[in-house]
Amino acid sequence: MTQETRPDPEARNPRRDFLGKSALGLAALGAAGLAPASASAMSHGDKKKGFDLFAAPLDGKGHYKLPELPYAYDALEPAIDEQTTRLHHDLHFQGYTSGLNNALGKLAAARDSGDFGLVQHWEGKLAFHGAGYMLHLVFFDGLAPAGSTSPSQSLRKALEKDFGSFAAFKAHFSAASRTVEGSGWGILGYQPVGDRLLVLQAEKHQNRTQWGILPLLTLDVWEHAYYLKYQNRRAEYVENFWSVVNWDRLAERLEAAKGLHS
Ligand SMILES: [Fe+2]
Repeated sequence: MTQETRPDPEARNPRRDFLGKSALGLAALGAAGLAPASASAMSHGDKKKGFDLFAAPLDGKGHYKLPELPYAYDALEPAIDEQTTRLHHDLHFQGYTSGLNNALGKLAAARDSGDFGLVQHWEGKLAFHGAGYMLHLVFFDGLAPAGSTSPSQSLRKALEKDFGSFAAFKAHFSAASRTVEGSGWGILGYQPVGDRLLVLQAEKHQNRTQWGILPLLTLDVWEHAYYLKYQNRRAEYVENFWSVVNWDRLAERLEAAKGLHS
C-alpha cells in the first residue's frame, strides 16, 4: 500500500473533528462505501467493541479490519438465527473486508507502476467491496437484542418530519426492502445537503445509489442474510427485522449526522 492510502497521523482527531469537515468527505464518498483513510483513522469504540459511528476500524497500515460484533452470535434470536449471524459476519463481511483491501492494494500498485490497464476492473471491485463493507458495518451496528431499545421521542419526531409518521416510515422502509429486485438493501439515509432523511432501495449495492448520503439504518436483503431461516419468505424476515433494530444507536447516528449542520 502506498503512502497515499495510509492514514495521516495528524488526522487522528477526536469525534467532533471527524464529525465536522472531514465527515463531509465521508458523506460525499458514502455511496461508494469508502471513508477517506484520514477520516476513518479517528479514535474508536468508547461504547462498543469494534464499531463507531461513521468510522471503520483500521489497522496500523490503513487496512480495513473486520469489526467484532458488539453482541453474541445468538443475541438476535429468534429474529435472526445464530448460524446466519455467524456466517454472515465471519464469512461474508470478512469477504467484503478482504476484497476492499485487495482492491485498494491493486489500485495503489497501478498508481505506483503507472499501468492503469485494469483500472475499470479494480474500480468495480472497489465499489462492490467498499459499498458492501460500509453497509454491513451499519447493518450489524444497527441491531440489538429484541426489547433492549425503543425509539425515543426525538427520533420519532425526526422520522415524522420527513415521513409523515413513524408507522409510515416503517411501512415505506419495509416495502422498499421487500421489493428489492434480486439482491440488495433497504436503506434509511441522511442527505446532508437537504437536511433530509430518505429511504433508498439498492439493487446489489454498487448500483442504483446516490451520492452524498449518510447511511443511518440498513437492512440486508441478500439471500445470505436470511435464507437459512426464512428461505423465500423475505417479507417475514423484513417484519422481524424491526424487533432487533437498535433504536438508541439509530438516534445517536442521526444526531451525529445532523451535527454536520452545526
Ligand atoms: Fe450481507
